[in-house]
Amino acid sequence: MNTIEYNTMPRLTQVAHEQLASAILPGDYVIDATAGNGHDTLFLAERVGRTGVVLGIDRQPDALRSTGKRLNEAGCAEQVRLALGNHADMLEFLPGNWRHRVKAVVFNLGYLPGSDKEVITTAESTREALDASLQLLQPRGVLSILVYRGHDGGHAEEEMIQAWLQQNDGAFSKVEWNDGDHPTNSSPRLLTCYR
Ligand SMILES: C[S@@+](CC[C@H](N)C(=O)[O-])C[C@H]1O[C@@H](n2cnc3c(N)ncnc32)[C@H](O)[C@@H]1O
Repeated sequence: MNTIEYNTMPRLTQVAHEQLASAILPGDYVIDATAGNGHDTLFLAERVGRTGVVLGIDRQPDALRSTGKRLNEAGCAEQVRLALGNHADMLEFLPGNWRHRVKAVVFNLGYLPGSDKEVITTAESTREALDASLQLLQPRGVLSILVYRGHDGGHAEEEMIQAWLQQNDGAFSKVEWNDGDHPTNSSPRLLTCYR
């Protein structure tokens, strides 16, 4: 059963989950590159089940505490490994056998809601994490990126992602942008890339 209360979450998060739900199967290996408060990690843990593995990464201890609590309350902690650190270094967190084996890498960029807005994803570390993701995704794997543009650095991050996509032209069979129902210059955008 899906335990997420979507009425308290941005609609594009729901769209991302629906897309990922079509791709992720029990037993899959997946990565939440920005664990935050654990909504996405829990969703992924429910999808992969006890036979799969989720790696949840965040650079803030508070975020991982919040994620761990959410997973424990839902009885889904067993299939999740939490790593404190920079997602740019994700290849170092993983055993070598994860290369080309990961079904989905999920980014929900920006800052942790209700926390220090200074700790934020940046264009530089996100680009490094995207490069790493390319080495991890399996054929038919999915890269899901929710991009927030309403804060300082948000547009720079979006521009970096667009440039990265051009540089990696051919890495994906399909690329989709979803701008939500009422797009503005500062509203979030969801990018979904299929290997
Ligand atoms: C929008 S929140 C993620 C929301 C989360 N997915 C959820 O479901 O609650 C963004 C998170 O990215 C984390 N973050 C920022 N830069 C990071 C980095 N370089 N490596 C790992 N995590 C980072 C922040 O600490 C924050 O918790």
